[in-house]
Amino acid sequence: MTVVDDIKAKLDVADLISGYVTLQKSGASFKGLCPFHTERTPSFFVFPNRQSWRCFGACATGGDVFSFYMQRENVDFRQALQDLARMTGTELPSRRRRKSEDPLFKLIEAAAKFFTRNLASSEGTEARAYVEERGITPETAVKFQLGLSPNDGSALRRHLLSLGYTEGQLSLAGLVSQPQEGAGQDLFRRRLIFPIWDAEGRMVGFGGRALDDSMPKYLNSRQGPIFDKSKILFGFHLARESIRNGGTAVVVEGYMDAIMAHQNGFDNVVASMGTALTSYQTDLLRSTSEVVMALDPDAAGKEATFRSLESTWKVMQGQKVSETRQGSTVYRRPGGPTLKIAPLPAGRDPDDIIREDHAEWERLTRETQPVFEFLLQAYARRFDISTPQGKSDMAGAVSHLVYAANDPFEQDRHVRILAEVLDVPESTLKARIDSPRPQRAVRRPRRPDAAVATPFKQLERDPLEEHCLALLLQNPDMTDMASGLRSEMFQRVENRELFTNWLRGITIELLDEGIRSHLDYLTAKPLPPTDRKELEADLFQCVHRLQERRLRQLKVEEGLRLSDVGPNEFSQFEEEILKINSDMEALFRARSV
Ligand code: UTP
Ligand code: MN
Repeated sequence: MTVVDDIKAKLDVADLISGYVTLQKSGASFKGLCPFHTERTPSFFVFPNRQSWRCFGACATGGDVFSFYMQRENVDFRQALQDLARMTGTELPSRRRRKSEDPLFKLIEAAAKFFTRNLASSEGTEARAYVEERGITPETAVKFQLGLSPNDGSALRRHLLSLGYTEGQLSLAGLVSQPQEGAGQDLFRRRLIFPIWDAEGRMVGFGGRALDDSMPKYLNSRQGPIFDKSKILFGFHLARESIRNGGTAVVVEGYMDAIMAHQNGFDNVVASMGTALTSYQTDLLRSTSEVVMALDPDAAGKEATFRSLESTWKVMQGQKVSETRQGSTVYRRPGGPTLKIAPLPAGRDPDDIIREDHAEWERLTRETQPVFEFLLQAYARRFDISTPQGKSDMAGAVSHLVYAANDPFEQDRHVRILAEVLDVPESTLKARIDSPRPQRAVRRPRRPDAAVATPFKQLERDPLEEHCLALLLQNPDMTDMASGLRSEMFQRVENRELFTNWLRGITIELLDEGIRSHLDYLTAKPLPPTDRKELEADLFQCVHRLQERRLRQLKVEEGLRLSDVGPNEFSQFEEEILKINSDMEALFRARSV
């Protein structure tokens, strides 16, 4: 069984989707408002027996748990695989460090040396003055290996090529500005360079700050196989020791803030690099007992900060993600550190505060506020909680936070605090919000045993899809003949993923490890020896069979949906059915030619 199968076996499609969409039971299926387009009447269906979903409305898409998660979270397959594996407690095959990655780490180191040398050179006079003006000592500059990218837009490129690195490697390392079109340019021009290390202490990329007010203020290395901003906390490799086991980790936003903290002996500080913490980042902080987020109060009032804080908190809370078919509950990282907020004085960065007053920084990061209280205050400013309506509205708006904690005592504490803030009796409040999972109020039946669901039993491999892909991959000149294929015609997620990437001409290096080995398998898959004509006929057949299979599926799903549609509603679907039927007829006609 592949990891993908493993995950699918553990994660019920209705469970996953009900975390996003309010589902109502509808025959053997569920329906709800489509999360991918705006609509008033539900045309979004989930079919537990088939473990699939489909929007019969404007967006007309559908698929399985993977495609839902990828579309809804707007992530690629690699990310979806990691996230869903984490949710279901599935272990991914250890990502053997690929040989091809090794030169990339060395390349980054070589680039860093080039930048530091340039900062020390005559070209660096102005930048050195800037570093000094920002209060960074020469020792700190060395410790963080600060550098300067040259004004010339291709000096780094030339240097690295002269060392024997290839254009492809430069692009994979994320240092080229237009990786697609011809010779790339250096991404960083005349910027103060902050090397970035990953959790294992390897240098993986750079942040580059403009030396003046030009925009953007910071540029970061492009995402690639070794640089992924969402998995990195800046300064973590230096902070690791001091936040390990029971300590406090302080999270600031900026490179400058973290550097200034470390320069002044506050070794427990890491920077989020300006975005909401991802679950990967909070995972790095798992071993500490307390995470303190230093927040600029101006930002704290803003919707974006607010949302990002909520999401960080939920990730850290170890939210219940889903129930498996076996009936056990899957929690994401139960019982992590507690999240506290250190609101900073208006308009002052940690960088300023630390430079000016150590004692104040210590006080601010000690006298913190639990995140729930902090969020409540922010909500309270948005509702008129002097009126009964305002109280009720706010209670409704924050109920998801009250129950975000898994611990019942913590939930009780939240109810108490909220009752106090709203100035209502706890019993009244409970009546208003007592629904632990407001958006998941529907009880879903357990998915029937896989063995029972045989008509739609998923094959571990799909010979038709694999044959079709092998033909295409091994005969690139037949690409034109594949124009009738669509990603959604591939049921197996690894085939769909390969097809999509192949269409986009994506470089192999960027594919997920599992997908890559599947690609290797298909490119090496022996095909019967044939001549060109037979090959074309073979591919033509494959394409048609995939199309046909897809239409049949659509029909089955239509049928399932219609089985509980009243006669009055029926006519509105007739057109869709007729369309599917005529598509099928056309297909059969074409085949018999
Ligand atoms: P800040 O604007 O607070 O930057 O953004 P800073 O580190 O305090 O920089 P100074 O003090 O103005 O020099 C916080 C972080 O957000 C990311 C960077 O990681 C930055 O350190 N950021 C910000 C970007 O990636 N791009 C930007 O354009 C701005
Ligand atoms: Mn700053």
